[in-house]
Amino acid sequence: MINTSQFQQMKEKGEKISMVTAYDYPSAKLAQQAGIDMILVGDSLGMVVLGYSSTIKVTVDDMIHHGKAVARGAGDTFIVVDMPFMSYHVSLEESLSNARKIYQETDAHALKIEGASSDTILLIEKLTEAGIPVVAHLGLTPQSVNVLGGYRVQGKDKQTAEQLLTDALAVEASGAAALVLECIPKELAELITRSVRIPTIGIGAGASCDGQVLVYHDIVKYGVDRVPKFVKSYKDNNAEIKVAIESYINDVKSGQFPGEGHSFSMKREFLPDIQG
Ligand code: KIV
Ligand code: NA
Repeated sequence: MINTSQFQQMKEKGEKISMVTAYDYPSAKLAQQAGIDMILVGDSLGMVVLGYSSTIKVTVDDMIHHGKAVARGAGDTFIVVDMPFMSYHVSLEESLSNARKIYQETDAHALKIEGASSDTILLIEKLTEAGIPVVAHLGLTPQSVNVLGGYRVQGKDKQTAEQLLTDALAVEASGAAALVLECIPKELAELITRSVRIPTIGIGAGASCDGQVLVYHDIVKYGVDRVPKFVKSYKDNNAEIKVAIESYINDVKSGQFPGEGHSFSMKREFLPDIQG
């Protein structure tokens, strides 16, 4: 398993970091078997596996429930767990208590928090001091979707680009171990990647980031109808799973399933007599 100092070294050596989300035991197990460097238990689980329209309804308990399942499936992989919406903005005490709970109960190796507000910067500092590595997340920060005015590319003009660079330097200075950059122009992601010593992990942020992260269900097209422009899908499970279930239904309806090979048998003579 890689650790935070190793992914720092990967950046220095120009070795790309691969990261994928996982939300349960089978997805975590397969990601680990495939050799992924890091797994993110993203609060995107709210949309991808719980069917919410945003990440805003996801709770600390949801993150723990899914984080534990992922840890059981990928015990030898570096696991980052998201702190969900409003679990870290009410007060520092409450943020630290939620962070402790998620970190301890899921066996995560790092927590991820969005943004670079003064609250967030202070929390990154406190968690890092306490020994909890923090992955920062800038650009499109889905927990603020209603403030940002939708899921759109961030940092396209001079002012917001400068702000993002300032924020990146601030999260690094406060101790963040890595930085997720979501949906920003590739030119800005490259500049930020060159400006910070910590690894940047991009999603919709071009090829210059030190690593890439994508949502599991997007890569393998499982249950998602539309994937964003920045996603590359490698397989279409939607189509294959639908055909498999249709075939099963047909077999059940036509009596073709279960066949002899799927059934158990016993000696006729041991069958009880019908009473009465
Ligand atoms: O929740 C998530 O999946 C994420 C990634 C998009 C970075 O935060
Ligand atoms: Na997230």
